[in-house]
Order: sequence, then C-alpha cells, then structure tokens
Amino acid sequence: MTTPIRVCLAGATGWAGSELARAIAATSDISLVAAVARRAAGRTLGDALGEPRLTCPVFASAAEALAHPCDVFVEYTKPDTAKKNILAALERGTHVVVGTSGLTDADYAEVDAAARARQRGVLACGNFALTVVLLQRFAEMAAKLIPQWEIIDYAHDDKVDAPSGTARELASRLSKVRAPEPTVPIDQTVGPRETRGATVSGSQVHSIRLPGFVISAEVIFGMPDQKLTIRHDSGSSARPYVDGALLAIRKVSGLVGLHRGLDSVLDS
Ligand SMILES: NC(=O)c1ccc[n+]([C@@H]2O[C@H](COP(=O)([O-])OP(=O)(O)OC[C@H]3O[C@@H](n4cnc5c(N)ncnc54)[C@H](OP(=O)(O)O)[C@@H]3O)[C@@H](O)[C@H]2O)c1
Repeated sequence: MTTPIRVCLAGATGWAGSELARAIAATSDISLVAAVARRAAGRTLGDALGEPRLTCPVFASAAEALAHPCDVFVEYTKPDTAKKNILAALERGTHVVVGTSGLTDADYAEVDAAARARQRGVLACGNFALTVVLLQRFAEMAAKLIPQWEIIDYAHDDKVDAPSGTARELASRLSKVRAPEPTVPIDQTVGPRETRGATVSGSQVHSIRLPGFVISAEVIFGMPDQKLTIRHDSGSSARPYVDGALLAIRKVSGLVGLHRGLDSVLDS
C-alpha cells in the first residue's frame, strides 16, 4: 500500500473547500493533515463539517497549519490571502494546488519564480470542471483560425472578484495563441471606453454580476457573416470541481514551477 498524500487544505469550511474535504475523506490515497479557516479554528474539521472521518485540526492561518508537515497545500480561500498562503507553502517546501481565483499574471510570475527556486510544482486551475478544460482547449483551437474574440464572464451578484479565474485563465491561454485583432482598436473607442470591457492578457473581458447567475464563461469568436460561441455553465453545487481538484493533488508533485489549467496534467 502506498503512503497517502498529506494535504493541508486552506478554505476547508468554504463552499468549494468543504466539498473537496468531504471527497478526500472518502479516498484512501489522500489524507487531510491540517485545515485553514478562521471561524472553525481550534476545532477539528470533522466537527466543523459534520464528517467524523475528518479528524485534522483547523487553524486560523496557513502559517500555523503549515507547521504540520504536508506534501501538498491546497489554496481555496479568497484572492486577498491566496498569494501570501501560496508563497508560505512553497517556503515550507510543499507543492501547491491553487483553486482560488483572482490572482493576476504578475502574481503568478512571482509564484512561478518561488516554485522554481525550490523545485516545487504549483498547479493553478481557475476552474477544475472538465467542461471548462474542454472550453479552454476548443477556444485555443478556434483562436488559431479566427483572430477576433471577446470573453463574457457571468457570476452571482456577491462574487467579489472580477473577472473570474476562469475568464482570466482563458484570456491568458488565448494570448499564447495570438493577440486578438479588433477592427476598431479599443483605445479608439468613441464613447465610454469601459463599455468595451477590460483588456485582460490582450482579450476584452466583460464581467456580469447579477442574482440568478451561478458561474458561466463564454467566448465568442467572430468572422465576417459567421460567429462561434463556446460556453460553459456550472450548476449550483461545488461537485463539478471535486474530481479535477483530486486529480491536481495527485499529480502536482510531478511538476516543477507554475502550471495553469488542469489539462497540464490531464493527459499525463
Ligand atoms: N478553481 C475552481 O474550480 C473553483 C471552484 C469554486 C470556487 N473557486 C474559487 O475558490 C475561492 C473560494 O470560493 P468559495 O466559494 O469556496 O468561498 P467561501 O465559501 O467564502 O470559502 C472561503 C473559505 O476560506 C476561508 N477563509 C477566507 N478568508 C480567509 C483568511 N483570511 N484566512 C483563513 N481562512 C480564510 C473561509 O473560512 P473563514 O471565513 O471562517 O476564515 C472559508 O473556509 C474563490 O476565489 C472562488 O472563486 C474556484
């Protein structure tokens, strides 16, 4: 029998983190050794989540939790804490899986440098859902052939960060295929420039935050007299993110430096 992968899960009581924690409780090859969440600090995670198989302690900060040796640190808190936690985990010599959205390309450049300096892997996935991985791949195929596209990111009204991690990651990946070529350059817009959205890694991104939405990402490619829309819609549970996150935990130790998107490990 192989030794289970020891995981520290930051954000373990959250919407996404708690679903992942429950799934880890049902696996035999991954073991939660520490968790991070402020309000449940001092309790066991099992006590906080009503899952007796989760016996690990909950700490108020990643710094305290990382005092417990672990192999993989999973970051699932909030954008304002994520980078600090990731760098602290790398400092401790653990590999890192990032589910939290909101980190910029500049943040990731810093994370990449820290990971390479310590020969550790960081796998950052703005969205762990399989259908999003497919959206990314299909969009990259389309961008090779179609030079004009825009991204629309839909989410619930109380999502604090914009654009979504999914939209950021998609824009970043498309920038590696080519730069989009809008017919009217964005800085030559007549009227409020903001109506054309934000330029993220070269793509125009429009974020909609309204009640009634969960999470959707859409990329529209336009050509004369034809267009292609590729869209992903999440349901209301965090279940679609679990299998991808488990795969990331299992595979991240085979990586060095920063890798973005689950498909970095999907075919390996
Ligand atoms: N990659 C993906 O597939 C995916 C899927 C879903 C969500 N996400 C992203 O994951 C992140 C979390 O989303 P969520 O909906 O699960 O959020 P959530 O329900 O608000 O959960 C956040 C968790 O982090 C903890 N936390 C927040 N701030 C903290 C701090 N400063 N120190 C320690 N713990 C802290 C919270 O506990 P306390 O408040 O008690 O500290 C809670 O356990 C977001 O960025 C979201 O966009 C990504």
